[in-house]
Amino acid sequence: MEYVEIPGVERKVSRIALGTWAIGGWMWGGTDETESIETIHAALEQGVNLVDTAPVYGFGASERIVGKALAEYGRRGDILLSTKVGLEWNDKGVFRNGSRDRIMKEVEDSLQRLGTDYLDIYFVHWPDPTRPVGESAAAMRELHEQGVIKAVGVSNFTQDQMETFRQECPLHLAQPPYNIFERSIESDVKPWCERRQVSLMTYGALCRGLLTGKMSVDTTFEGDDLRNVDPKFKEPRFADYLQAVGKLEKVADKRFDRSLLAFAVRWVLEKGVPIAIWGGRRPEQMAPIGDIFGWSLDLATLSAVDSILAEKIKSPVGPEFMAPPTGLTA
Ligand SMILES: NC(=O)c1ccc[n+]([C@@H]2O[C@H](COP(=O)([O-])OP(=O)(O)OC[C@H]3O[C@@H](n4cnc5c(N)ncnc54)[C@H](OP(=O)(O)O)[C@@H]3O)[C@@H](O)[C@H]2O)c1
Repeated sequence: MEYVEIPGVERKVSRIALGTWAIGGWMWGGTDETESIETIHAALEQGVNLVDTAPVYGFGASERIVGKALAEYGRRGDILLSTKVGLEWNDKGVFRNGSRDRIMKEVEDSLQRLGTDYLDIYFVHWPDPTRPVGESAAAMRELHEQGVIKAVGVSNFTQDQMETFRQECPLHLAQPPYNIFERSIESDVKPWCERRQVSLMTYGALCRGLLTGKMSVDTTFEGDDLRNVDPKFKEPRFADYLQAVGKLEKVADKRFDRSLLAFAVRWVLEKGVPIAIWGGRRPEQMAPIGDIFGWSLDLATLSAVDSILAEKIKSPVGPEFMAPPTGLTA
């Protein structure tokens, strides 16, 4: 495992964080608590020391399971926890709410579910365009000053929204999507963060499983699995992405004797991202974590990746389909 220093975070952070959205079940076709706890423990055993969750992941289920796993594991002081704020839900669905009231209520709920009295990193999950960015930022500053949250982050914010946020509150981390297929941050958010020492902790390294190499045209997804509505997983795009996956897999194997999964996560780290989130829900999925370290990608390989994308992906699409609505309040 490699570790990095992140401003605002008290100890060195593993460059792989465990993502626990699927552990919450919602939009991933359900969850199994015992397997989920074993997954968290397996990641910690591999040297991962940062677990990322959110209240909306299973409407409290992911945070509760993470809290239980950490209580069983012990050593809270050695483990870093990140969770999020600013999404509300009711019987009509999930919507954004970055109000001060919501933030102050949610932080209490998260602390209780996670069984802790502080959060190492607290992200505003999505910007709320129905109110000023400064309102969420001021509430986050208050929590930071109280010491309830140690480092402040925002997720899915534009660079302008981050600039505004930073006028009101220290900003330590940003959590945007980033992987071989989803690179829109390269033109704005990523250089902005690098110039201002806002550390990137990116999600989607495996592109919701596409970059594991285990998918084929016959792959289907169960129940409410988000990939049933992900435009990347629909024809004619799916076939193009799978062809690119096949070519990337050959590069990983022939040049480095690594799996596509290891190659895809290494690619994110080589691009200068300090922390990549790796989503999982079964303990055996954590076994390849060690394969990410001890090697690096050369410039020729990075440009080979770009050529494969240019050749195979005729109609690229990002993860925008995941954005929650803004106005569903009734
Ligand atoms: N801030 C945000 O708005 C936001 C948005 C999305 C995600 N996130 C965070 O990022 C995390 C990652 O989510 P993601 O959607 O971006 O997923 P991801 O990490 O790109 O991919 C997860 C997928 O990879 C598969 N997988 C994991 N390890 C594997 C292994 N060893 N072998 C084969 N397949 C493996 C899982 O398989 P199965 O399907 O079989 O379980 C799952 O489909 C989330 O848990 C969450 O913490 C944040």
